[in-house]
Amino acid sequence: MSIPLSIEWSNGQLRILDQQKLPLEIEYVALETLEDVYDAIITLKVRGAPAIGITAAYGLAKVAQHYKTNTIEEFLEQLKKDAIYLGDSRPTAVNLVWALDRLSNTVQQTVTIQEAKNRLLEEAVNIHKEDESSCQNIGEFALSLLGKHTRVMTICNAGSIATAKYGTALAPFHLGSEQGKQFQVYACETRPVFQGSRLTVWELQQSGVDVTLITDSMAAHTIGAKGIEAIIVGADRIVANGDTANKIGTLNLALLAHAFNIPFYVAAPSSTFDLTIQNGKKIRIEERPAEEITHVAGKQVAPPNTKVFNPAFDVTPGKYITAIITEKGIIYPEYNKNIPIILDTEKGA
Ligand code: MRU
Repeated sequence: MSIPLSIEWSNGQLRILDQQKLPLEIEYVALETLEDVYDAIITLKVRGAPAIGITAAYGLAKVAQHYKTNTIEEFLEQLKKDAIYLGDSRPTAVNLVWALDRLSNTVQQTVTIQEAKNRLLEEAVNIHKEDESSCQNIGEFALSLLGKHTRVMTICNAGSIATAKYGTALAPFHLGSEQGKQFQVYACETRPVFQGSRLTVWELQQSGVDVTLITDSMAAHTIGAKGIEAIIVGADRIVANGDTANKIGTLNLALLAHAFNIPFYVAAPSSTFDLTIQNGKKIRIEERPAEEITHVAGKQVAPPNTKVFNPAFDVTPGKYITAIITEKGIIYPEYNKNIPIILDTEKGA
């Protein structure tokens, strides 16, 4: 039993687990160019807010090693252009631009091109390592909340393969499994692209967690029929008042948790917070191609030319979120007041 990983960085080579091919094929692909990285992110070969940030950071640092610029000013100009290009690949998860901004910021004061190149690589590795330790802390905090529960529901894949390791919403299940605490996880399949059935079920099976698959439309019935005690999800962007963008269908689960009077937890690292936005109405929601809905595994399931609305994310109002679990601690309402307090503290302080 082992926890799967999706991003490999070794000897200047960047390889990602092709999540489009899971669960039938386990294949790692090398990303060489900026276009490879952009394509891997937009086509969901690599997905999940922290994982796309880490991949973009390595990708940018890697291509910057080959810039043919003569001055540091030209180097920084090229870096800025490439960061904007990658940052445009997916708009909702703030971790992507957060990671690219970290790279840009780390070289603003550098004097030589070689120094800038070295610092970019170092910073990408830092982002990767920090995410792993953040996810481990999130898992421990989440276990402290979920420890008394057994049957927990989740949606999408906020797991190890969506991060550096462990995941956010799935971290307590991996850590619980290591520590002898066995959860019964109910995974929503997550239409339209099945991150729940293809990825979460596969990932949890890899680490020996008891997981049961349901379709998204079975969530309400299952909460009652199976006695679900809590719901935990990841996040793509959490704004100042706690409103949270996450995979489409998350809002349904939050409303169900409210109706059934069970806790609804969001798990995310501090890199997923965007305190420049005051409320969820201002979050840009990615809309994806119609074929994700009109076709399933390449087979057409709707009449030709069907009109489609395909938002990849929804926004759950903070008022439906029992607590937000971060690597620095657990944040309870009132979020406007408490998010800055927890994010400004060191872990556990
Ligand atoms: O479209 P995806 O698969 O990238 O959406 C992923 C999610 O919504 C996750 O819940 C979120 O990014 C958190 S991953 C730790």
